[in-house]
Amino acid sequence: MKAVQFAEYGGPDVLRLVDVEPPHPGPGQIRIAVRAAGVNGIDWKLRTGNMPGRRELPSGTGVDAAGVVDEVGAGVEGVTVGDAVFGSGSATYAEQAVLSHWAKKPTGLSFEEAAGYPIPVETAIRILREAGVEPGQTLLVSGAAGGVGSAVVQIARERGVTVIGTASARNQDYLRELGAVATTYGDGLADRVRALAPDGVDAALDIAGSGVIPELTGLVGDPAKVVSIADFTATEHGARVSFASADHAAAFAEAARLFEKGVFRLPVARTYSLAEAAEAQTASAAGHVAGRMVVVVP
Ligand SMILES: NC(=O)c1ccc[n+]([C@@H]2O[C@H](COP(=O)([O-])OP(=O)(O)OC[C@H]3O[C@@H](n4cnc5c(N)ncnc54)[C@H](OP(=O)(O)O)[C@@H]3O)[C@@H](O)[C@H]2O)c1
Repeated sequence: MKAVQFAEYGGPDVLRLVDVEPPHPGPGQIRIAVRAAGVNGIDWKLRTGNMPGRRELPSGTGVDAAGVVDEVGAGVEGVTVGDAVFGSGSATYAEQAVLSHWAKKPTGLSFEEAAGYPIPVETAIRILREAGVEPGQTLLVSGAAGGVGSAVVQIARERGVTVIGTASARNQDYLRELGAVATTYGDGLADRVRALAPDGVDAALDIAGSGVIPELTGLVGDPAKVVSIADFTATEHGARVSFASADHAAAFAEAARLFEKGVFRLPVARTYSLAEAAEAQTASAAGHVAGRMVVVVP
């Protein structure tokens, strides 16, 4: 089968489309014929070799995918060959990949869109819980237009939370369509947020990792209600840094439920082929996508 691999750590040019033997699922896992793979920050961060936990090389790339089950590992129940699923595993930029966590794909949800769900929805549900956001409260989301931000905004809105989201000028309308009160990031952020929320904000999520933790803790007042997923200096200001993982399958099932209810979408902004994996990871590293990017497998 065709798969994207890297044999050395480095920039996007180390990615190669190669022929390899298909993987097989271990106990508790499934294998899918991949229809689309989600593109996430973790994909290019692992490829650089700068993340903790070095991998055996050559290594596949990609965590998220959607596709059709074609092999079921020992002890797996509730899913059979032929089922359409989406979930997370490893080496998903490939024609076949093993998933460790999954949910059934709703019929009306495309494989492309479903492939973009796993990491963003697991992360969104986890950080909303860690920030202790309650219905009726106001939440500030810094970096709301990307994968995780788009998921956070919609899930929080569904829970009765008012969301103020930041994005660049060109993504303001996109944020409003998701249900957020939109504002731009950059100089004057704290003043703009105070004008939009005269009674204050109850919690804040730093998605973009753009060095705004002091502003966020100043706006919220309580650093324990500020959570970052991309700024490891957050703890220096009393805020939290959140890492994977929570109950992935439950988060995926929740996203499927919200999609079927008509209140959740993660629009696919750009698609790539397996041969274009380097371009996909380059665009992910640039960090200005509204919604999701996926690698589509024919
Ligand atoms: N710790 C964890 O568990 C965890 C889990 C998932 C992701 N992450 C990390 O979290 C980060 C975000 O992930 P993602 O999938 O949401 O990324 P993404 O889809 O690439 O979105 C990034 C968003 O950040 C916005 N942005 C860029 N510069 C900004 C700034 N200075 N201020 C505010 N927003 C800005 C962009 O909006 P504009 O285009 O409008 O500028 C873009 O929509 C990545 O670094 C990823 O690796 C961590």
